[in-house]
Amino acid sequence: MVKEMRLDSSPLSLHKQKHVLVKFAVSFLLTGLAFRLLFSDSFFRFSAETPSLAEQKTESPVPVAETSPPPDQSPLPLDLPDNEIQTFQNETEEAEAEQEAGKCDIFKGDWIPDSSGQRYTNETCRVIESHQNCMKNGRPDSGYFYWRWSPRGCDIPRFDPQKFLDLMRNKSWAFIGDSISRNHVQSLLCILSQVEQAVEVYHDEEYRSKRWHFPSHNFTLSVIWTPFLIKATIFEDMNGISTSEIQLYLDKLDKVWTDQYESLDYVVIAGGKWFLKTAIFHENDTVSGCHFCPGKNLTDLGFEYAYRKALQLVLNFITSSKHKPLAFLRTTTPDHFENGEWFSGGYCNRTVPFKEGEVDMKDVDTVMRNIELEEFKKAAEIGSKNGVVLRLLDTTSLSLLRPDGHPGPYRQFHPLAEDKNAKVQNDCLHWCLPGPIDSWNDLVMELLVNGDKYQ
Ligand SMILES: *[C@@H]1O[C@H](CO)[C@@H](O)[C@H](O)[C@H]1NC(C)=O
Ligand SMILES: *[C@@H]1O[C@H](CO)[C@@H](O)[C@H](O)[C@H]1NC(C)=O
Ligand SMILES: *[C@@H]1O[C@H](CO)[C@@H](O)[C@H](O)[C@H]1NC(C)=O
Ligand SMILES: *[C@@H]1O[C@H](CO)[C@@H](O)[C@H](O)[C@H]1NC(C)=O
Ligand SMILES: *[C@@H]1O[C@H](CO)[C@@H](O)[C@H](O)[C@H]1NC(C)=O
Ligand SMILES: *[C@@H]1O[C@H](CO)[C@@H](O)[C@H](O)[C@H]1NC(C)=O
Ligand SMILES: *[C@@H]1O[C@H](CO)[C@@H](O)[C@H](O)[C@H]1NC(C)=O
Repeated sequence: MVKEMRLDSSPLSLHKQKHVLVKFAVSFLLTGLAFRLLFSDSFFRFSAETPSLAEQKTESPVPVAETSPPPDQSPLPLDLPDNEIQTFQNETEEAEAEQEAGKCDIFKGDWIPDSSGQRYTNETCRVIESHQNCMKNGRPDSGYFYWRWSPRGCDIPRFDPQKFLDLMRNKSWAFIGDSISRNHVQSLLCILSQVEQAVEVYHDEEYRSKRWHFPSHNFTLSVIWTPFLIKATIFEDMNGISTSEIQLYLDKLDKVWTDQYESLDYVVIAGGKWFLKTAIFHENDTVSGCHFCPGKNLTDLGFEYAYRKALQLVLNFITSSKHKPLAFLRTTTPDHFENGEWFSGGYCNRTVPFKEGEVDMKDVDTVMRNIELEEFKKAAEIGSKNGVVLRLLDTTSLSLLRPDGHPGPYRQFHPLAEDKNAKVQNDCLHWCLPGPIDSWNDLVMELLVNGDKYQ
């Protein structure tokens, strides 16, 4: 668990500065990025009004101007203890060290050209959410289909839907998390639709949690919407407009998934960006602090505090539960807004992947992923003593290399049809279907079949 910094390849960005800068960067993100993007009402609407700069300022503990990252989005320097960073002279050495240990890290590698292209289309898969149905929405380029994730030092096969469904006979599988988990489940449904169409058997009132059944394999697949994984009270309408701070209960799990846990054979759990929102924290039935609540006379404990507590609670539940599904923890997903954020004209119009070293991970993602890796490592050790298998689905870095995989303006149907220069909202966070997120399932399959090899 020491290799997480490799995409942040410039040593300068690691050592020098004060941790507080991360906080500032995060505050900036919060003020602007209300994270309505992740606000996943089922229809995933953006608000018509973006927050005005004035509003942002009154919420901000520090002037926005001082904290905004430069337009190129290069990350602010980040302070990390030296002993957490294993330094290799170069990539070759690193790969060699791994091969000597007889291991391949399937999450490290490159996107290489691949002529086989997309596995399904908007015609063969009926469950693609309209906001991620990029081809239907008129995205003109299709080069982003023709890349394959190639781990350094080993090869992983393409997802075999027949094999997967055969393995899943009589089984139940759930994706547990926010709208990115929904994006992920739709990718899996689309890939599986080559073999069998799923039948939707359940949805909640807002169409955020859903369950499907594959009758001829008796396989049940679901997505459970629980953006914090822990108990939270969210005051928000379907447009993501919040009327009050989120109340987060750091010592209580969200029953929406724990109540179903016993019925599940496989779970893919993921948390993330929702923790960046303003929130009041509760512990031991009292208010223990907050994240980003100026004027409230509460201790600002930071999102890191809440995210770590939440993951600890989730992983502790999983490792101590009598019921022992195979559990995957997926790491945070990066966005690719450039020259702004989603509310300020940010866009993502690249059409080819980055090569390693061409992009730095944003600080927020680095902080979140480090928490994920640390808590995963602790939990996996406890789990192995209790007969619970935990797998890390570390998709952050490989996804960071795919700025070309997002809907951008094509979250809407033919957004530029009437006016080529129309100002439209871009989505540089969710992934087009088909698209690079399909590769996440190749990795899921590999971990499912050969997981022990990579521990
Ligand atoms: C990387 O390290 C290997 C082994 O020490 C060396 O042979 C190779 O020349 C190095 N490559 C670069 C680009 O520095
Ligand atoms: C699928 O996408 C193509 C463009 O690639 C478009 O012409 C077609 O109308 C779409 N079909 C459906 C059913 O959305
Ligand atoms: C389907 O699987 C469930 C377990 O998930 C099992 O209880 C049930 O008997 C199976 N049904 C059939 C028809 O095989
Ligand atoms: C699935 O469940 C059915 C009914 O309970 C049983 O007959 C069958 O053997 C099971 N198949 C597997 C692979 O467990
Ligand atoms: C909550 O209670 C536990 C056990 O009594 C204690 O260890 C912990 O410090 C308390 N946490 C807070 C934030 O008060
Ligand atoms: C802030 O809280 C502390 C302790 O809870 C209290 O002593 C203090 O009076 C409060 N300050 C204000 C301005 O309310
Ligand atoms: C992306 O958009 C920017 C600004 O409109 C433009 O300068 C750039 O050439 C575009 N890049 C691509 C690959 O289309």
